[in-house]
Amino acid sequence: MILLLFDPRPKEHMEELFDREEELKLLRKAISTPLTLLLGVRRVGKTSLLKSFLNSLGAPYVYLDLRVLEDGGYSRAQLYRLLSDSVSNCISKWKKMLDCFRGIKGVSISGFSVEFDWREQTLTLTALLNKLNDYALNRTDEGFLIISFDEAQFLRLLAGGKGRIDFRGIMAYAYDNLRGLRFILTGSEVGLLLHFLRLDDASSPLYGRYASIVRVERFPRDRSIEFLRRGFMEANLPISDDALDAIVDKVDGIPGWLTYFGYMCLESGGASKEAIKAVTEKALGLVERELKELFKRSSQYKHVLKAISLEANSWSNIKRTVEAWIGRRLTNAETTRFLNTLINLSIVEKTDGEYKIADPLIAEYCRKI
Ligand SMILES: Nc1ncnc2c1ncn2[C@@H]1O[C@H](COP(=O)(O)OP(=O)(O)OP(=O)(O)O)[C@@H](O)[C@H]1O
Ligand SMILES: [Mg+2]
Repeated sequence: MILLLFDPRPKEHMEELFDREEELKLLRKAISTPLTLLLGVRRVGKTSLLKSFLNSLGAPYVYLDLRVLEDGGYSRAQLYRLLSDSVSNCISKWKKMLDCFRGIKGVSISGFSVEFDWREQTLTLTALLNKLNDYALNRTDEGFLIISFDEAQFLRLLAGGKGRIDFRGIMAYAYDNLRGLRFILTGSEVGLLLHFLRLDDASSPLYGRYASIVRVERFPRDRSIEFLRRGFMEANLPISDDALDAIVDKVDGIPGWLTYFGYMCLESGGASKEAIKAVTEKALGLVERELKELFKRSSQYKHVLKAISLEANSWSNIKRTVEAWIGRRLTNAETTRFLNTLINLSIVEKTDGEYKIADPLIAEYCRKI
């Protein structure tokens, strides 16, 4: 079976992308500015939008998925490995780029791939960006090259400490001096990314720089239904209106979950009530794994999230509910700190003083813990 819409991988081409006209329009405008932030909660479709957008432009781009840095403990070695792979990928499409890396100390070239030696002192990130800038300005039709960092909140883990890399300083330098480079940063942990960049804080290297912000939101209900309908139609599997409603009731308009439910229903041969229930259980298993790291930090997050999921929505209600469960007082500072961390991670959203869990499946999971 050839999967189109319900293919669980991020989409990479415009023809595969459902909707997002508005966001694409904003991105096309934003790309004339040096720095763009593409923000949205997990699974909302940031990577799909970013990759499809990048592939639709003629301009060369380097795509870096920063989640892989975790495997190397956010080390310089791991970053250089990622850069080598990503730049090599770019060179395979834009071969002239290779020329700008010839004869440079610390760069080895074999075929159409490059390797940057992290131990070479003179091969700094600024030096590499300068080379990419020269290429963009002198060897491309568009006159610019895009460098995209997917899940850019992880850049902050390269900063601080001895021998570490402060990306903000490097980006500020590029912003001011390297006219051929455009940066796009995505973030699902929106608060963490904004807090790291601190564009409006005088002590931050990026202070006063302008960032174009594009927010990726969930689909409205009618679009979600249409998304599912189209996916099932492509797979030639009939689906009832009730089943469509049942799925959207579960996952709202989060494309990643819509895709997951569609895909899993196809796997089980239909979208019966039982099938949807079984898929929900599997999805809750994924949620559990994702929250495990957070709960390791402090078990209080469990209580705070459970309280919010059970409709204790105001600050004082959350505090009171958690206190009753754990049998001790929480200080005001503690309560605020837990809530702010959850907001920074985009797990919780705050509107008009009310706290809400952003993802309906996370909310469902938390109600049961
Ligand atoms: N506009 C869209 N059209 C079709 N499929 C989409 C769209 N947006 C997202 N998807 C699908 O939803 C899933 C999640 O999308 P994607 O990985 O792009 O989201 P993300 O926001 O980058 O998620 P994460 O936070 O996990 O990195 C993928 O299976 C992708 O194919
Ligand atoms: Mg992504």
